[in-house]
Amino acid sequence: MSKTLENKSILLVISGGIAAYKSLELIRLIRKAGGNVRCILTKGGAQFITPLSVSSLSENETYTDLFSLKDETGMGHIRLSREADLIVVAPASANMIAKLANGIADDLASTALLAANKQILLAPAMNHMMWQNPATRENISRLLNRNFQIVGPVEGEMACGEFGLGRMSEPEEILSAIQKALSPPGRGLGEGEEIDSDFNTFAKRLRYARKSKNLSQEDLAKKLEVTQQAIEKVENGQIIKPKFLYEAAKVLGVSYEWLWEGTATPPHPSPLPKGERELEGLTAIVTSGPTFEPIDPVRFIGNRSSGKQGHAIAQALAESGAAVTLISGPVKENPPAGVKLIEIETAAEMLAAVEKNLPADIFIGAAAVSDWSAAPSAQKIKKQPGKTPALNLRENADILKTVANRKKRPGLVIGFAAETENLLENAKAKLKSKNCDWIIANNVSENLFGGDENQVYLITQSSADKWEKQGKRAIAQKLAAKIGEHFTNVRTIKEAAE
Ligand code: C5P
Repeated sequence: MSKTLENKSILLVISGGIAAYKSLELIRLIRKAGGNVRCILTKGGAQFITPLSVSSLSENETYTDLFSLKDETGMGHIRLSREADLIVVAPASANMIAKLANGIADDLASTALLAANKQILLAPAMNHMMWQNPATRENISRLLNRNFQIVGPVEGEMACGEFGLGRMSEPEEILSAIQKALSPPGRGLGEGEEIDSDFNTFAKRLRYARKSKNLSQEDLAKKLEVTQQAIEKVENGQIIKPKFLYEAAKVLGVSYEWLWEGTATPPHPSPLPKGERELEGLTAIVTSGPTFEPIDPVRFIGNRSSGKQGHAIAQALAESGAAVTLISGPVKENPPAGVKLIEIETAAEMLAAVEKNLPADIFIGAAAVSDWSAAPSAQKIKKQPGKTPALNLRENADILKTVANRKKRPGLVIGFAAETENLLENAKAKLKSKNCDWIIANNVSENLFGGDENQVYLITQSSADKWEKQGKRAIAQKLAAKIGEHFTNVRTIKEAAE
């Protein structure tokens, strides 16, 4: 083996899991590649392998205890990360991932990781249901957003006898991820690889993963039961389909998150098998919050929209498998996990962001877009005795209407109607005048902005359903389920026609 890790030092954190035994092999491979490796063994990890075996293979002391005085004077938790070129967590248990995502530091391993100033590579290993649990999905999304690198997990038989996605990648694969992480930019792909090395698109990542498995486009097409042209289109960056990337990741033995990361959007939060989530493979744009229209450098026209309903809808759609872009005005809400967030201030910026992210399958206009904007003064408007400044308002474009009347409009366009009187009549009129498919109507005379509950009607061309008063998140989930039903019906009708 060539000494690809010569002069490199790896800090390997071994957390609890049966896969810990594979980390012994990983230590051996790192040593063989010329790297130095120091290990932290968690309490859980030490249930599976012993500090003695780790020390023997690494030829270094094994660190286990946060409060050991010796470690703090000799090699404290801060120095452990400072002296490493790369930190690897293998196996990364669900618990360790949750701690990392939340900044918990309650033992030596998690404290050293929180204090780290180096790139961290995770090799997750857990039961497949734990991997698919929304809590883990959310944690992984957060870590990817913070630039953690992830290798695996892969599909296979679990120690518990079940089968699924959750096995730790093999030590050889983790070693090549380490080599890649430590390669200077421009040399990331290994010998003879002619693809650009920056790995920054899903297309490049897919092609690289395919080539490293020695598969032709035709081979991969056969395995995925798609046409070769489809593979070609994805590899040229012309199309992107979450479902396809998910299947391809499985066949190529790379992580779905890694492939998806090349889309420059946060990872699609639902790497579940085909058909398990209703909105898998669909794209959605949701607008949320208020818009702020400047009057001068310090003042603006705004409104009290909290963004709670729009953000909850974006989250529910993502949880149902859609790839969601959330375009939001200034709000206090936290960005939902696994959603691409674009922050804007004005209606014009919101429209531009919407246009930029179209086409999409679903558009939901939950934002309270200001109907007017002023031509802002370049200087702060000064008080002048006896004079009231005119604002010269002009009408903003109606984003919902613009989207609904596009030639290539989304398959489902949903607007909101916040009314204080004649709710149903006004909402139905709005459905028509804006050319949208559904309207969510609520009576704002009863519902003050910013509350956690809402009572709405779902109005379609042919029906008006009253939904009982419930939390905004419950409304969002109910809406996501309705959208799922709608697309299932559309598919069934299409299939019947074919
Ligand atoms: O006409 P009205 O403001 O009541 O319509 C509300 C709906 O239209 C909401 O879905 C809102 O997001 C959308 N809207 C828009 N652009 C505007 C005004 C409203 O997209 N300029």
